[in-house]
Amino acid sequence: MLAVVVGSALLILWIIASIRRNNKCGLKDIPNAHFSVPYSRLWLLSIRWRKLENRSRIHLHRRLGPVVRIGPRDVSVNCIDDGIRTIYSSKFDKDASFYHALFDQTGFMVTMIGNDEHRRRRRMLAHPYSNSYILNSQTLDSILSRVSRRLREGMAGWASTGTSVDVYQQAKCCMLDVASGYLFGSENATDTLQDPGFENDLTTLTKTTTKYLHLRTSLIWPMTYFSSLIGGNVLPDPVARGRWEAWLTRVITDSYRRHPTKPPSTASLFDHFYDSFKAADPDMPLNDMASFIAVECDDHLSASHIGLGILLSYTMYELSRDPDWQRALRKELLTLAKPSDKSLAHRLADLPVLDAVVTETMRTRAPCPGPFPRVVPDSGCRLVGKFDVPGGTVVSSSAWALHFNPVPFPSPEEWRPGRWLEVDGNTLAEMRKWIWTFGSGARACIGTHFSMRVMKELLVTIYTDYETFLDEGFTGNVEQEDTFSSSPLAGCVKLKFRRLT
Ligand code: HEM
Ligand SMILES: *[C@@H]1O[C@H](CO)[C@@H](O)[C@H](O)[C@H]1NC(C)=O
Ligand SMILES: *[C@@H]1O[C@H](CO)[C@@H](O)[C@H](O)[C@H]1NC(C)=O
Repeated sequence: MLAVVVGSALLILWIIASIRRNNKCGLKDIPNAHFSVPYSRLWLLSIRWRKLENRSRIHLHRRLGPVVRIGPRDVSVNCIDDGIRTIYSSKFDKDASFYHALFDQTGFMVTMIGNDEHRRRRRMLAHPYSNSYILNSQTLDSILSRVSRRLREGMAGWASTGTSVDVYQQAKCCMLDVASGYLFGSENATDTLQDPGFENDLTTLTKTTTKYLHLRTSLIWPMTYFSSLIGGNVLPDPVARGRWEAWLTRVITDSYRRHPTKPPSTASLFDHFYDSFKAADPDMPLNDMASFIAVECDDHLSASHIGLGILLSYTMYELSRDPDWQRALRKELLTLAKPSDKSLAHRLADLPVLDAVVTETMRTRAPCPGPFPRVVPDSGCRLVGKFDVPGGTVVSSSAWALHFNPVPFPSPEEWRPGRWLEVDGNTLAEMRKWIWTFGSGARACIGTHFSMRVMKELLVTIYTDYETFLDEGFTGNVEQEDTFSSSPLAGCVKLKFRRLT
């Protein structure tokens, strides 16, 4: 009896304290996602737990406007000017509690919290990912032609036997082979299009990581400590992990050994990274340097494998659902047969249909939808010209919510590449501002130009000579998972190939 009385009294005191805290808080003028959000994060954690964060954010912003309160100190932002332009500037640090829950391993660029540390690292890594470097890289030319050749061999077989092909898996293989070749040189690239064992290992590891992330970002402390119990089998497969780490260690050691004798024309990214780490800190012990480079490479490999695998396979899927756009694309690709003094990489940048098809898929099928939380600095900030948000508030945006806004994108759920081709220059510039597949600002994706060149070149390889179409027998769920990296729910996407020439 006494316990009940004391318990109720404590609860009432807590409610009163919460209400008073909220009345003093600078966030009280912002529309609430749910009546409970000023007092508790439970609502936010529950939509995350139930994998409804995407839908909820899209609908909330349609109903309540561009700034919505989703927790006691959490705000969701869904506009460009006075919105993401402000919160993704270099003044806002990443939210440590989110990014450290996200990855076990920290110390690489994505997980760095403070912007000063980050700026130094980014300066060391960014050059070989710049657009001019990517367009002129011989290392990338040679790995792309090797992977394209392998892919053509594969397609010839699939087309002649009428095989139903898991293009999600094949796309992941292509991307892993290209990224490993760019990082370590063609001689040391993986060859998973031929021998998919490695790709399977990486997919297994990614699945457990995604599951683990979901648990850790949707449970309330102290439950996070028990996440592995609650989630069942979420520990990484030790055999797959062992094989993967052994390969990475070997390839880094080999790259290091060969570094002094490599001519600049065949330099891989490893060679660049090594030189920049050495220049930044000549006395850094070799083992430290090797492990810094290894975690960055590991991250770039998995971003390419999953992120680009998702994007390429969904582009193929949408083209298979829409034969008219597939024909329009092919017609444009056939113009590449005309001789030109420009390289293929440069010519790909000038193909409007190809660009529209890729951009529209980046919009509807963003592989990493976020949200990406940032912390408001002590000086506070003002959003959409009217809400003064105090320091310490966690603000975040999600690519899906931005991309499914019906104002810049009427009928946002429809995949319609034409929307990029039939508007005037001003409207187009406005629409482009809303595309947030790779984030924006000081910490936007470093792999954007690499991603665009690789995506476009592989689409040329496929759609110049082949047609893809839906496999009627495939009934898997091709919607994306509402998690940090968003694979197809079925785990595969099946299509068929037909040779055209
Ligand atoms: C379709 C594929 C990809 C998507 C959708 C994607 C998306 C993103 C997004 C949204 C961010 C910002 C994350 C944040 O604010 O916390 C990011 C950061 C990053 N991405 Fe990607 N990415 C892709 C491919 C790649 C590739 C191929 C690389 C390889 C280099 C890469 C390397 C990075 C790195 C290093 C960062 C951190 C940048 C920094 O902190 O300065 N990504 N990516
Ligand atoms: C995100 O929400 C939109 C709008 O409700 C929906 O069309 C889309 O399928 C959702 N995606 C996921 C992965 O939940
Ligand atoms: C990397 O390439 C070199 C040179 O061809 C070769 O000797 C070495 O075994 C390769 N290492 C790996 C891990 O593929």
